[in-house]
Amino acid sequence: MISQPNKLTPEKIAKVLGAVENLMQLHQDGTLGGEVMPEDANPGLRKGSDENYLYFTLPMALNYQRNSYRLWEATLQTYRDKETKDVFFPAAVVDMGIDALREKLLKHKVALQPNRHPQIWMQLCETFKQRFDGSVKNFFAANNGCVANIKGYMAANKKLFPYLSGAKIMNYWLYVMGQYTDTVFADKQNITVAPDTHVLQASAKLGIITPDDIKNSYVRSIVSERWDAVLKESKWHPIDIHTPLWLWSRSGFVANPQRSKEAHTMTIRQEHPRDYPEVYALVKAAFATVSHADGDEQDYLNELREKSTFIPALSLVAEIEDKLVGQIVLYEMEIAAPSGPVTQLVLSPVSVLPDYFRRGIARAMMERAYEIALELGYTAVFLCGDPAVYRGLGYVPSCEFGISHVDDPDKTADWCMARELVPGALDGITGTIEIE
Ligand SMILES: CC(C)(COP(=O)(O)OP(=O)(O)OC[C@H]1O[C@@H](n2cnc3c(N)ncnc32)[C@H](O)[C@@H]1OP(=O)(O)O)[C@@H](O)C(=O)NCCC(=O)NCCS
Repeated sequence: MISQPNKLTPEKIAKVLGAVENLMQLHQDGTLGGEVMPEDANPGLRKGSDENYLYFTLPMALNYQRNSYRLWEATLQTYRDKETKDVFFPAAVVDMGIDALREKLLKHKVALQPNRHPQIWMQLCETFKQRFDGSVKNFFAANNGCVANIKGYMAANKKLFPYLSGAKIMNYWLYVMGQYTDTVFADKQNITVAPDTHVLQASAKLGIITPDDIKNSYVRSIVSERWDAVLKESKWHPIDIHTPLWLWSRSGFVANPQRSKEAHTMTIRQEHPRDYPEVYALVKAAFATVSHADGDEQDYLNELREKSTFIPALSLVAEIEDKLVGQIVLYEMEIAAPSGPVTQLVLSPVSVLPDYFRRGIARAMMERAYEIALELGYTAVFLCGDPAVYRGLGYVPSCEFGISHVDDPDKTADWCMARELVPGALDGITGTIEIE
């Protein structure tokens, strides 16, 4: 059951609309964390060209179980490579056959699965070629540019549009088409909020659902319905708020639309040696607020940077208007497992300038670090810390995974914690770790 406390009273709707107004403003000002959307990595084709429509359609059907930024970067590489560019032209795809298509799609990793993904791509090309003269624009025109008709046609002809006809991805695809092509849909209101993880998190943050509701299997349709209800009498269509909600969540909710319109232009970037003195002072100031701290965490960080386990790409700083307000380091360590060592990461230290506590800076740095960690092939992070703080950041005691600290002979400590970056990453791994 979705919880009742989120029932949409008129007062609640008014409050959420106030926050939405601020978020839209922050988005317009470009201050929602300064992030770009995954689809922004594109070759900048003419918006109204058939090629542009196909560019934003075909990869969409492979957009699952992976980081969207990676997909669109791979798509761009595929488009720029003259040996693979023809995969964006349905007639050429149908002519080349499945084996050549497979090779081209795998080259830059647009396809990850060697069989299923090329089949999906081929079927879509056949559909567009045979029924709409190779043009997504023609497909839209045949449906009077009407979202309801397009959705109806695809739902009735699911086999012609593998994966793309799934309710969630179809909706999201139509949103992308509205953003990145010159399509003007007659009934934009029929594109519902596309509730991916970020939109769900942002909806919970605004009180549309509770954080617990996110685990509910019906949550996506409930979130769409609730946004429809909230925005019904407003000047926005549900899909208008997708990008602001998405960016807001992805930047770790740094901007607080409910608190004020003041926004921070925070950048999270790799630490540079010239930052070391400022980081030293920052770590010292942050840990001075911790009663049980050793007081030498800043020196520990200096030593850490000299070790072979240090990964420069995973030493990040958060900067607001040329001032460093946070730092985070994730370094490599090995889990001593019966079957042999397993390499993963330790998060330590993380610090934020005390004047900036509880504005989501640590969370934003962590999210960025996790993305980089995933790109580097790591799938879990460990740390020693206060469970009261880190539970809220997605960590659970590592003993729950069967992995304990060497200083915890009972294997029950709640201060040695872990977070999987990929669900199931620690399945089947037991053993001990040592974190200084
Ligand atoms: C721990 C620290 C890095 C958190 O930084 P921060 O930017 O204030 O944290 P965030 O605002 O991103 O908080 C994210 C979440 O962490 C949890 N959290 C952060 N500080 C917390 C605290 N003092 N008590 C309980 N939970 C806390 C909450 O779940 C919070 O989410 P919420 O604000 O939505 O409730 C910061 O307090 C700090 O530098 N402390 C001193 C150094 C330190 O203890 N480092 C950690 C040991 S290595």
